[in-house]
Order: sequence, then C-alpha cells, then structure tokens
Amino acid sequence: MTKKRVFSGIQPTGNVHLGNYLGAFKNWVARQDQKENYFCIVDLHSLTVPQTPAQLRQETLSLAGILLASGLDPDKCTLFIQSHVTAHAEGCWLLNCITPLGWLQRMTQFKDKAARQESVLTGLLDYPVLMAGDIIFYDAHEVPVGDDQKQHVELARDIAQRFNAQYEVDFFVIPEPVIPEAGARVMGLDNPLVKMSKSLAVVRGHAVRILDEPDEIMRSFKRAVTDSGREIRFSDDPEKAGVNNLLGIYQAITGQSRDVVEAAFADARGYGDLKVRVAEVTIEALAPIRKRYEELMADPAELGRLLAKGAEQATAVAQPKVDQMKHMMGLVLPQ
Ligand code: TYM
Repeated sequence: MTKKRVFSGIQPTGNVHLGNYLGAFKNWVARQDQKENYFCIVDLHSLTVPQTPAQLRQETLSLAGILLASGLDPDKCTLFIQSHVTAHAEGCWLLNCITPLGWLQRMTQFKDKAARQESVLTGLLDYPVLMAGDIIFYDAHEVPVGDDQKQHVELARDIAQRFNAQYEVDFFVIPEPVIPEAGARVMGLDNPLVKMSKSLAVVRGHAVRILDEPDEIMRSFKRAVTDSGREIRFSDDPEKAGVNNLLGIYQAITGQSRDVVEAAFADARGYGDLKVRVAEVTIEALAPIRKRYEELMADPAELGRLLAKGAEQATAVAQPKVDQMKHMMGLVLPQ
C-alpha cells in the first residue's frame, strides 16, 4: 500500500510554543512512520510582517533544531526551509494569476492581522496563496495543522479545484486538513479566551515556550487564569475556559480520553493541584526536547547538511510540478 503524502509548515518567528507543539508538530512526529512526509520552515511567510534580518536567520535555524529535537527523523521525513526551494515563490505567482482577489480579502487571519497594522503589506494578503502552493505542489493528501489554519487549507482546496477545472485536468490533489482531537486550539494561560500565539508569547504568563526551563514552565502554569469555582471538568462555558484549556493540554500531552482525564482529577485538591499536575506532565514532555536541542545546535554543520538534503529532496518534487503548471498555462519552457 502506498503511504499518504503529508505536508505541513511552521513559521520561524521565535517563541515556538506549546500550542504549536500540541496542535501541529507533536502529531507530525507521531505519524511519521505511517506517512510520506514533507515539513517546511516557512521563512517566506514570516516576511509578510516586518522582521529583523539577523534574528529571522537565527530563528529559522533554531526552529530546525526544535523540530528535529522533538523527534522528526530525517530518514522518515523531508525537512526543509521554504526559501531553499524556489518553486514555492515561482509557483505562487502562477497561482496568483488564477486566484480571485475576493477569496483573499475574506480570510479571517488577514482581516485580523491587517486590522492591527498601520501599513499592510501585499505579502500579507497573498499569504494564503503561498501556503496553498506549499501544499499542492507536493500533491499532499493530508495537512496536519491546528484549528486556526483550517480556513487556509480550505482555500488551498479551492485553488486546486479551480486550477483543475480551468485547465480541465486532474492535476492537483485536493488536500484535507487533519486537526487533532485534543490540542487543536491551545489558549493563552493569562487569558483563556485568546489563542496562545507567538506574537503574545513575550507577555509574561501567556505561553509556555518549547525551550522554557522547568521552573519557568511551573511558574507560568501556577499563574494561569481560571475561575472562582472548584469543578474540574471539560466545558464549553466561557467562564470555565481556563480549566478547560488546562485539561485540554493535559489530554493532548498524555493522549488519554476526556473521561480518563476527568477521572484522574477527581481527587484533585482544587485548581492549584490541577495547575501543578498539568505543569508536571508538560515539563516531562519538553525536558528531553530541550536537551536534544542543545546537542543539535552544537553541530551547525550537520544541521546545515540535513537542511540541504531536505531542500534537494523537496525541489525534486515541487519543481517538476511547477514546470508542468507553467507549460499548461501557456509559458514556453527553456530548451
Ligand atoms: P504557524 O507558524 O502560526 O503555526 C504552526 C502550527 O501551529 C499551530 N498552532 C496552534 N495549534 C494549537 N493551538 C494554538 N494556540 C496554535 N497556534 C498555532 C498552527 O495551526 C500550525 O499548524 N500558515 C501557517 C504555516 C504554513 C503552513 C503551510 C501550514 C505555511 N504553509 C502549509 C500547513 C501547510 C502558520 O503560520 O502556522
């Protein structure tokens, strides 16, 4: 049986956090044996908001270290930096020329981000087209992401379908988002009504970062906002969003069912106890990643070699696909 092809990506803009881990790359690692995997550090996407160049370079390599330290195995997946595979930017232009502007103006992430900025860059509007190309140039069937990326994957499906319809071919595979049952939307510890995010991770107590020290992780959880009650159970009630978030994190880390998680806390002595126990499982999950990260970053030449190999493997898939597209769209390929 041929393995299903998986593509996913993550931006290298610092402060990689527990939401990224539980919503995305923990699941990439868990299923890498069953799939044919392409994982991408999407540095071109990071340029859609202003960056400090030296910091972006450093964070790109650091993210590669975090992903490998978390268990991505270069023998089982192709890990690469998006800008190393020029087919992404080139193919994005081709997709721009079949994507209606209205589709992009409707994207909720664009509207949110644009509303918070004085000057909105064209790249921010075009972001989902670049992302669609990432996925469809690899003929990926599955896209494992957190809940916030669902709309973008749906747009990738629409773009793929539009191309197939316009050129009357079955050229692109129509991808499916794969969203985990637990951990798909980890909320801020300081405010459980907003999503845990990289941009807010600088705010004290908002996020647990993957490379945080154990006592920092414990402190962040102890400070987590809950409610004035005592009941420890999953709930959709916004009042109980803090407790719900802590239980969701525990569930995603331990892989237990909701019932088992609730039963595990039946004997808890209040929210203080809940917070400490969630912190403990998080510390236990992240400690080996931090240790392995230090080892990997001590050998930058090996990291560079792995990323170069990843880029070569990715180019071998994406460039012929983009070349074929160019031909189908009426461009003359060089002899
Ligand atoms: P990014 O870098 O914002 O996030 C990387 C992954 O982490 C997930 N995530 C979360 N999951 C649960 N709770 C949270 N609080 C949380 N915050 C983030 C995201 O859903 C994502 O899966 N546009 C993408 C990157 C991208 C991509 C792609 C993804 C570019 N090309 C192609 C898939 C396929 C992004 O900015 O993710």
